[in-house]
Amino acid sequence: MFNKLRKSYYLRISKKNLEHNATLQGGNHTIGPKSRVFLSNGAKKENVILKEGCWPRGSIFVSYDGVFIMHEHSQIDESTKIQCVNRIEIGAYTSISENTIVCDNNNHPVSPSYRKKMRLTPSGHKMRTWKYSANAPIIIGENCWIGANVRICKGVTIGDNSVVAACSVVTKDVPANCIVAGNPAKVVKTDIDKLPEPPFP
Ligand SMILES: CC(C)(COP(=O)(O)OP(=O)(O)OC[C@H]1O[C@@H](n2cnc3c(N)ncnc32)[C@H](O)[C@@H]1OP(=O)(O)O)[C@@H](O)C(=O)NCCC(=O)NCCS
Repeated sequence: MFNKLRKSYYLRISKKNLEHNATLQGGNHTIGPKSRVFLSNGAKKENVILKEGCWPRGSIFVSYDGVFIMHEHSQIDESTKIQCVNRIEIGAYTSISENTIVCDNNNHPVSPSYRKKMRLTPSGHKMRTWKYSANAPIIIGENCWIGANVRICKGVTIGDNSVVAACSVVTKDVPANCIVAGNPAKVVKTDIDKLPEPPFP
């Protein structure tokens, strides 16, 4: 009983948060108790688009002019984080599993002298924001499956239908219809669209 009440309380908070911080298009969104969109440094709710039937169950952080789009019936799992200062798109029917980070920037600049100066600034200072680290768009195609504990780095495009194996770090583009695995992720299987389909229950 207590757990049910707690869940419905958190679901109400999630719903309010998404309505306030994102643009919900169509209906049938599956919102979880931990669904959250965080806007910072002038990021706009118009730039966070959650299309028909998607499942935005994780944490979505958007900064500055960042654009984040979840296309129809795509999913991000509860403990997954999206970190966006440039552009991140998740294709229709694509599913992103737990503990994964999709981050379109380096988080911090690589320059040692910059980082040393940054250490002397307080938490939340502009120098620490993603805008000042290298960044590039991430486009994940349709009907992809991104496994658990993955990191997808800046500038990566993932082709339709591809699978990213658990615990991979994706630093380069992934072709369509393949499986990539490892750190840095490499193609380990191709033509998965030609695999026989198991019987549908
Ligand atoms: C390493 C990092 C800072 C990128 O630095 P960068 O100077 O922009 O490097 P590039 O993107 O140009 O990549 C350089 C090479 O390293 C590889 N690379 C980058 N990040 C990598 C990673 N995490 N794992 C394995 N290889 C990686 C690239 O594929 C590239 O390989 P190549 O030379 O064969 O083409 C970034 O990818 C990263 O890992 N950031 C840390 C994020 C983090 O842990 N944040 C926690 C919160 S602060």
